[in-house]
Amino acid sequence: MAKNWTPDGWKAFEAKHLPKYEDPAVLEAAEKTLATYPPLVFAGEARALQAELAEVCHGRGFLLQGGDCAESFAEFHPNNIRDTFRVLLQMAVVLTFASKQPVVKVGRMAGQFAKPRSAPTESQGEMELPSYFGDIINGIEFQPDSRMNDPQRMIRAYSQAAATLNLLRAFAGGGYANLRQVHQWTLEFMGRSPWAEKFKDIADRIGEALDFMEACGIDPKTVPQLQATSFYTSHEALLLPYEEALTRQDSLTGEWYDTSAHMLWIGDRTRFEGSAHVEYLRGVGNPIGMKCGPSLEPDALLQMLDTLNPGRVPGRMTLISRFGHDKVEAGLPRLVRAVQREGHPVVWSCDPMHGNIIKSESGLKTRPFDRILSEVKGFFAVHRAEGTHAGGIHIEMTGQDVTECTGGAVAITDEALSSRYRTHCDPRLNAAQSLELSFLLAEMLNLEAEQRRAAAA
Ligand code: PEP
Ligand code: CO
Repeated sequence: MAKNWTPDGWKAFEAKHLPKYEDPAVLEAAEKTLATYPPLVFAGEARALQAELAEVCHGRGFLLQGGDCAESFAEFHPNNIRDTFRVLLQMAVVLTFASKQPVVKVGRMAGQFAKPRSAPTESQGEMELPSYFGDIINGIEFQPDSRMNDPQRMIRAYSQAAATLNLLRAFAGGGYANLRQVHQWTLEFMGRSPWAEKFKDIADRIGEALDFMEACGIDPKTVPQLQATSFYTSHEALLLPYEEALTRQDSLTGEWYDTSAHMLWIGDRTRFEGSAHVEYLRGVGNPIGMKCGPSLEPDALLQMLDTLNPGRVPGRMTLISRFGHDKVEAGLPRLVRAVQREGHPVVWSCDPMHGNIIKSESGLKTRPFDRILSEVKGFFAVHRAEGTHAGGIHIEMTGQDVTECTGGAVAITDEALSSRYRTHCDPRLNAAQSLELSFLLAEMLNLEAEQRRAAAA
């Protein structure tokens, strides 16, 4: 257990990107209400995820983490949850089938509401208002009352997270994720992507493998791994009053856990020595992610690893690099080498989204799909060269047929962006682009496996 730590100890540290609430009494009331609500996840589940991540840490498995940039109250709908879950399942099938490695599935879902923003205010015409900080803090409509920070939004976010998680648990365990269903997961509009055909091939081959097993007397109905899947939730632990209110002591071990999600991560803007966010997360037992951008120095990274994982527990730390397609090959090796030298066990994951945002000609924020693929390739190349395991991917995606990132096999042009641009924050991969990415990942994982075999021979 962390030394000298309390759930509210972060308040004595430097907190960036936390909202100011007008009336402290209203904030306190909301925190008190949340503190009486049931935990969303259990400590034992967070430990199970940590054990799966420990395997990835040792080179045996791959972390697939994805979902919205910002969940919203407006897009809250069972079909949206189902479609995102379904695309993550499809990606996991491609990755598992091709790489023969277990895939750990973690949604950016059921709590991914709060956003750090580069500018505190936004101007439209003559009017200047506070920026939008995510539905858990204020509203996206460009109006003064909507942009006010409202602590009551935390209560609504909690109930949306609870309902989302309930549905995800049902999908994961209630038959939907049964491998016999793999054909049914195909989304209508994916039919236009050449990758949908490739997915169908894999689905056919899985069906044959299941038939074969059945003929040999292994009844897939009695093998839990074929009937259900494990699925975990995660979000950026940005809004500390919310996280603190959901921090509970595990009755089995006495350890503190943040029960708002299985895994929490620290964003690139809040990961510095002396940060309130680092202080809060060092004391909870959940697996922790940390974004690593171009401004992170190796020594600072090592210091934070010592603070967050002094016991050097495998599976505790996932480092999520997000350099940008043109910076990853120059910037990542020094971090990887420092971590290797000090012997810190970590999962290395790649966020190919946050370093690749550009403004399109139409003025909308977008991410060219080519750059996303290029950062992924760079990430794998670095790990091949360093002899470390490229352990995961962290993406902003949705199961919807949106037009937010340009490119891909069903090429989305600059002009087409505005037709179905629905994100509340950053542009997401759509279902077809996500599937396409999973085939590239499978290829990269196979290259890594080949290199390992060659080294062992
Ligand atoms: C995010 O993941 O939504 C995010 C804000 O990323 P980063 O902290 O890496 O900028
Ligand atoms: Co984002």
